[in-house]
Amino acid sequence: MLTQLPRGTKDIYAPEIYGWQWLEEILRNVSHIYGASEIRTPIFEHTELFVKNVGDTSDIVNKEMYTFEDKGGRSITLKPEGTAGVARSFIENKMYANPQPIKQYYITKCFRYEKPQAGRQREFNQYGIEVIGTYSPAADAEVISLGKEILEKLGIENVTLHINSIGNEESRTLYHKALKDYLAENYDNLCPACKERYEKNPLRVLDCKVPSCKDIVDAAPSVIDYLTEEDREHFNKLKEILDSMGIAYIVDPRIVRGLDYYTRTVFEFISGDLGAQSTVCGGGRYDKMIGETGGPELGACGFAIGLERIMMILEKNNKLPEPKNKRTLYIGSIGEAGFLKSQALAYALRNKGIAADCDIVGRSVKAQLKYSDKIGSKYSMVLGDDELKNNKAGLKNMETGEVIEIELDKIAEFFLK
Ligand code: HAM
Repeated sequence: MLTQLPRGTKDIYAPEIYGWQWLEEILRNVSHIYGASEIRTPIFEHTELFVKNVGDTSDIVNKEMYTFEDKGGRSITLKPEGTAGVARSFIENKMYANPQPIKQYYITKCFRYEKPQAGRQREFNQYGIEVIGTYSPAADAEVISLGKEILEKLGIENVTLHINSIGNEESRTLYHKALKDYLAENYDNLCPACKERYEKNPLRVLDCKVPSCKDIVDAAPSVIDYLTEEDREHFNKLKEILDSMGIAYIVDPRIVRGLDYYTRTVFEFISGDLGAQSTVCGGGRYDKMIGETGGPELGACGFAIGLERIMMILEKNNKLPEPKNKRTLYIGSIGEAGFLKSQALAYALRNKGIAADCDIVGRSVKAQLKYSDKIGSKYSMVLGDDELKNNKAGLKNMETGEVIEIELDKIAEFFLK
């Protein structure tokens, strides 16, 4: 146990970490172009925030939360997703007093006690965007276009956008009734979990992955046929804007999402490069959350991308960038004076932004040069008594083998050129 990760978690280190840093840089850059600023909320919140917002009929709240009592007797939960915390912060910090909408993005760890498999972990990383303060379908289209832009900038292909509308309460009440009537006819063939979902929130049955339930769901009535005039108009406008942007989509009435807070638009980007866990990005509108959490009535929408799934796609398609900690110069040394000079020179060069390295192990000069080769230094040199006396050393280009003589105090200039 002492040297074993908890199930469903992962260490991320070199060289993979360079892929993550590159990915995060792209996420930040694209977010800033879309006018979003970063928000960092705590990794844990009061449990009731998630119970109220993510919803007590969702699998997340029912089965998957990491909840514990702290020493003060409060019920605390590690965040299973990012939206609820952003909504809480929006209200607590009175962001509604600023010009609306407020666009915020985050890169955060999330925690869900799920059965681990490829693309599904217990601790995982999400990028998310939340736009709060508008009911307009233009905001839905904007966040969808941001999702598409991110995937494009990462060079991810083979992804389709699925959109749907689950309407507001009125539409959903009509649909719930139709769905319940239909499911009642098939009740005996539902899995035990879906029998419970049938009672609590029949919409959840549409999400079930059990094959016998899937067959039932395939023939179920479609939510789009039960939308009120206003909800239908909202959805039509969204489609019109996406068309004008040239963003292709599939209207998919089976997309209902696994969280209770959604209203109207819901969408997912689904990858053809992943196995069962193929949704790389999921989101939608949540127009009730801000009001119901204690803030003013304000429309909102957003999405989150599962970053482990993005990394899986990038790895599969060899799209990850080269590791970037290659050393520019390795300064080897012979003798005490050479050793001291190598340390001082490395310090001075690093100060100027040059990735220099030197021996901090006490290796022989032969072993030093072997090490320099292994870590992929572009250049190497060795400092000994002669080099110090002449203030000159041979600078070897490790790729071509070419050696040039260089004055020790001209090294920085050489690399900065
Ligand atoms: P979600 O669909 O629960 O939505 O999660 C978003 C994405 O996170 C998923 O599409 C998937 O890529 C990734 N993900 C979820 N669970 C796991 C897991 N156990 N392991 C690895 N990746 C996972 C939300 O979380 C909403 N807060 C999205 C949102 C933001 N809606 C509006 N604003």
